[in-house]
Amino acid sequence: MCGIVGYTGTEAALPVVATGLKNLEYRGYDSAGVALLDDTLDVYKSEGDIDALTLPDTHSATTGLGHTRWSTHGQPTDANAHPHTDCTGEIAVVHNGIIDNYEELKAELVAAGHEFTSETDTEVVPHLLEAHYDGTNLRAAVQAVVERLTGSFALGVTAVGAAELVVTRQDSPLVLGRGETANFVASDVTAFLEYTRDVIFLEDGDIATVTADEITIWQGDDRVTREAQTVDWEADAAEKAGYEHYMLKEIHEQPQALRQTISGRVDVVNGTADLEFDLPTNYLQSLDEIQIVAAGTSYHAGLYARRLLEAHADVRCTVEVASEYEFTGGRDPWRTLVVAVTQSGETADTLSAMRTAAAAGARTLAVTNTVGSTAAREADDVVYIRAGPEIGVAATKTFAAQVTTLALLTVAIGRERNALGGDRASTLLENIRSLPGAIQQVLDDADRVADTARELADSEAFFFVGRRLGMPVSLEGALKLKEISYTHAEGFGGGELKHGSLALVTADTPVIAILTDGANPEKMVHNVKEVQSRDAPVLGVSSLDDAESVLDVTFPVPSLGDLEPLVANVYLQLFAYHIADALDRNIDKPRNLAKSVTVE
Ligand code: M6R
Repeated sequence: MCGIVGYTGTEAALPVVATGLKNLEYRGYDSAGVALLDDTLDVYKSEGDIDALTLPDTHSATTGLGHTRWSTHGQPTDANAHPHTDCTGEIAVVHNGIIDNYEELKAELVAAGHEFTSETDTEVVPHLLEAHYDGTNLRAAVQAVVERLTGSFALGVTAVGAAELVVTRQDSPLVLGRGETANFVASDVTAFLEYTRDVIFLEDGDIATVTADEITIWQGDDRVTREAQTVDWEADAAEKAGYEHYMLKEIHEQPQALRQTISGRVDVVNGTADLEFDLPTNYLQSLDEIQIVAAGTSYHAGLYARRLLEAHADVRCTVEVASEYEFTGGRDPWRTLVVAVTQSGETADTLSAMRTAAAAGARTLAVTNTVGSTAAREADDVVYIRAGPEIGVAATKTFAAQVTTLALLTVAIGRERNALGGDRASTLLENIRSLPGAIQQVLDDADRVADTARELADSEAFFFVGRRLGMPVSLEGALKLKEISYTHAEGFGGGELKHGSLALVTADTPVIAILTDGANPEKMVHNVKEVQSRDAPVLGVSSLDDAESVLDVTFPVPSLGDLEPLVANVYLQLFAYHIADALDRNIDKPRNLAKSVTVE
């Protein structure tokens, strides 16, 4: 995710803001910038490392804002880096999140004569402020602008004549720090931890005005009080927001990550999804086949998507491990769409498969988390999953965001091909929109998963079984467990276990079964009985009413149709994490593995 840091006090702002940017580096970023407010406003920003940012040695400003950007709208370039300014260069804005309605706001502002210098959604904010700011009351201007925005945002604003920072949030975190002779703002406490541990977490809709000696918080025209708290985290713990590992933090970030994935893309009323790509209707209607290429966890996301695409978009779909891919598109390769699913956008096997497809004449679409990555640049079209940076080697939130993006792609393609009626599309979209809440329910049950995982941590091996949409989740559950715990684990289609591997099932090999909608739960019950009669303990992730009567341990999954297995997967992530933790493994950097595999 992007990072925000701001300082206003009696000392020079530059060193504090520069330190704050360094502290935010761990979040991942592709560009950075600083705004310093004196009698004038000076802005410094550039693509790349913070070290590449050319800052003055000293600066007299005592108010400043800094930002690290992880691109979502527009490439990582100097112009797209934050802070963004208005036409006069006197108002500076930093932003985390996504402004859904920026295109219509931008059109309106351009028509009114505003000149834009970036491709970002953020830049509408300083231009809107320019129209509302009277040179004295910055809070009132921010209030008026926020009323025009839809989406998720944390905003930091400063302007000539204001001598303060004004910040506000909606669905994106923002915290204030209280010092003796200075106050701070940031997207997380790590940014200013060496200066103060006395913090106030803002709530949605809050607008705070921050000066050297005062913090005032407003909801509309009413002043509100938010309780101050003392944070006792050490810097390392703060980077992980108090979680022991990045993986656990990223598992818990899934509701917020999916809100970003979905933001501005879903129209439930009309049953449409807008993924901002250029695939023409006549091309989608004449498609013979979609071929998904991917590796590891991304391959499992592809397997999930295949079922959705075939069921809802009426298109033949194959999924191939990228390193095994050969193009088989027949006589008219252009009628095959090759979808490369890759979090990093740099996986050598996936890039190679994409190039094979392109050389054969197929059209390529990259589904990736990384703006400006090789996959994004080389593909004919690109869709971003917007999960924010993932630091743990084990993919967690990016799997959820990949499947969610591919579900949106299914709706978009299904509608264009007239294969998916409005009512069915609306139901699927309503389920997609409910994903963050459903995943939060699972996360609220995390302690029970931890207890069960600790009890079973010394087991000899684990088997994961699921059918249909539960099958890729069973593969993903096994991959997650083995890569971070180094314990043998295998995933199967529920019916397949009995064709050989059942010989391995004993009382010391727990079986994890997926019994949800979209995963043939009725048939799965038979598979559960098969392994129970070999004495294996069976844990189930289930949305069935009577699951307890079948399973030894049940973890309930909220009702969500074809997306239930995706929600169930969050239990499997937690299970893998707590087993690895009990075995004291190097969870964020498992042996022999790399986050991005750039060799074939
Ligand atoms: O960046 P990619 O999605 O292309 O990476 C593909 C795999 O290397 C990756 O999904 C890997 O399997 C996961 N990190 C495992 O958790």
